Amino acid sequence: MAKTILITGASSGLGAGMAREFASKGYNLAICARRLERLEELKKQLEQQYQIKVAVKTLDVTDYDQVFEVFKAFKQELGQIDRIIVNAGVGDGRRIGKGNFAINKATAETNFISALAQCEAAVEIFREQNSGHLVVISSMSAMRGLPKHLSTYAASKAAVAHLAEGIRAELINTPIKVSTIFPGYIRTELNEGAKHLPFEVDEKTGSRLLVKAIEKQPVKAYVPQWPWLPMGLAMKVLPLRLVNKLG
Ligand SMILES: NC(=O)c1ccc[n+]([C@@H]2O[C@H](COP(=O)([O-])OP(=O)(O)OC[C@H]3O[C@@H](n4cnc5c(N)ncnc54)[C@H](OP(=O)(O)O)[C@@H]3O)[C@@H](O)[C@H]2O)c1
Repeated sequence: MAKTILITGASSGLGAGMAREFASKGYNLAICARRLERLEELKKQLEQQYQIKVAVKTLDVTDYDQVFEVFKAFKQELGQIDRIIVNAGVGDGRRIGKGNFAINKATAETNFISALAQCEAAVEIFREQNSGHLVVISSMSAMRGLPKHLSTYAASKAAVAHLAEGIRAELINTPIKVSTIFPGYIRTELNEGAKHLPFEVDEKTGSRLLVKAIEKQPVKAYVPQWPWLPMGLAMKVLPLRLVNKLG
């Protein structure tokens, strides 16, 4: 039987791109986000193009109860969920101490507390199945504390990476696998306003490389591996004034 992958934040960018890539490999999909019409359009395209089933549901990941309900409903509909990709996220952020707590709080909530809810709901399903692959989308920005508009975003992405590592530690001797993915700059709606993004790749390339990395069920992956694997090592030791040039 074809395997099934649940992806949150699949209405645009990397979530939609990964859905396309996994569909081309014959996976059934469970896709969710707030913008239902985009999900329906994606479902239509993918089911026409490939012999797969695509289940669609609206989900605002900041509605924590809804996260559990939607994941359970997908499991009920599809029978088994083999992989869950915690991908939904926002790139908003403002400089600290400039009166923008509301925006930074919303970023921290969507990128971390909502990711926690998704990990809880996912691991509950995987414990019941005694199998599954949890994939958490962090960011290269998790490597260091970053200044200006990136401070809260980077902190939220470091938090999800630690969360994933903790879950991995607990489940290390079980059939449940946990991968943390650290993407570099990939051009999507999340960063569409930015003029220049260091070492950026386009959405299709980024999504293809993400899927290639995820399929190997790695503990961690830096995507694209070049230059982000060595950059990740360097970022940990570089003086902050040099790290800042990435922001
Ligand atoms: N692009 C990059 O350079 C890059 C680099 C590192 C990490 N990442 C991470 O990759 C992930 C995907 O980002 P992207 O670049 O593909 O950005 P994107 O095109 O803006 O996509 C973000 C997705 O998250 C969903 N989302 C946002 N808030 C949500 C909420 N409250 N409830 C449910 N879904 C929500 C959006 O769907 P709706 O608006 O329809 O709900 C959308 O599908 C994020 O976690 C991001 O931090 C991206």
